[in-house]
Amino acid sequence: MLVNLAEMLSRVPLARMAFNVTSVEAFAVLVDIAERHQVPLILQISPRYLDDLGSDFVRKFVIPRLQSSPARFTLHLDHAPSPSAIAAVIDWGFTSVMYDGSLLPLDDNIRLTQEVLDLARPRGVSVEAEIGHVGGAEDGAEASRLQLTSVESARAFVSACPVDALAVAVGNAHGLYQAPPHLRIDRIRAIRDAVRVPLVLHGGTGIPLSDLLAAAQAGIKKINIGTDLKQAWLKGARRGVAQYQEVDQVRALMREEIYAAIMKYQVLLEL
Ligand code: 13P
Repeated sequence: MLVNLAEMLSRVPLARMAFNVTSVEAFAVLVDIAERHQVPLILQISPRYLDDLGSDFVRKFVIPRLQSSPARFTLHLDHAPSPSAIAAVIDWGFTSVMYDGSLLPLDDNIRLTQEVLDLARPRGVSVEAEIGHVGGAEDGAEASRLQLTSVESARAFVSACPVDALAVAVGNAHGLYQAPPHLRIDRIRAIRDAVRVPLVLHGGTGIPLSDLLAAAQAGIKKINIGTDLKQAWLKGARRGVAQYQEVDQVRALMREEIYAAIMKYQVLLEL
């Protein structure tokens, strides 16, 4: 079954994990884990991977598969660059969207996020926005620099635009970390106290589990993991090609590596 993000985050003991769907193998393993362990999962797709997987595949296979599942899922559009990119996926059945205006001046980010709220709310679709800017490189995009989220900008943003979830930049970055990440747990706590909106941590890959747990205890309610599953796919492909001739045997190793990558977060998944 598909529920929106607000509902998915409403009764969370610690935090919900959100995995980026970047391959058919990752989708199959995520659905299998959710159904076998009865664990609610947020699956998210970036516009780049919507193109890569194909919108027909997402509309005709991914969405009906999640809608008819006995497990609880949220299907979220990650980092949409414009309100127009969001309108279509709402029609298809996505239950949550992120509008990313984090590189815009605050006023423009507020104006465009409000447009997205006007589109999404009447359809029961949740909205995530971003304040400050999570740097790093993702899905082949050029690397950008971190702009730490200030408590004041988060407060001003949320009072103008009451979104369902707010992504914050607190020392996290997308992609592989160039240096060990140092999360500002104090800043997460201060923003949580100021805005009372579920906070989102992007760039989860490469952050030690103990830091993810500390972030969750300080107020993070959604943790995004993308690169880990791509790396696992690649590791499985390399192992498979080195050992086997058969495609299905190679794909089985990809799924094995993806499963192991997801299970690293077992504590947060509450399995
Ligand atoms: P990573 O790829 O660094 O895990 O980040 C994923 C993410 O934040 C998706 O928005």
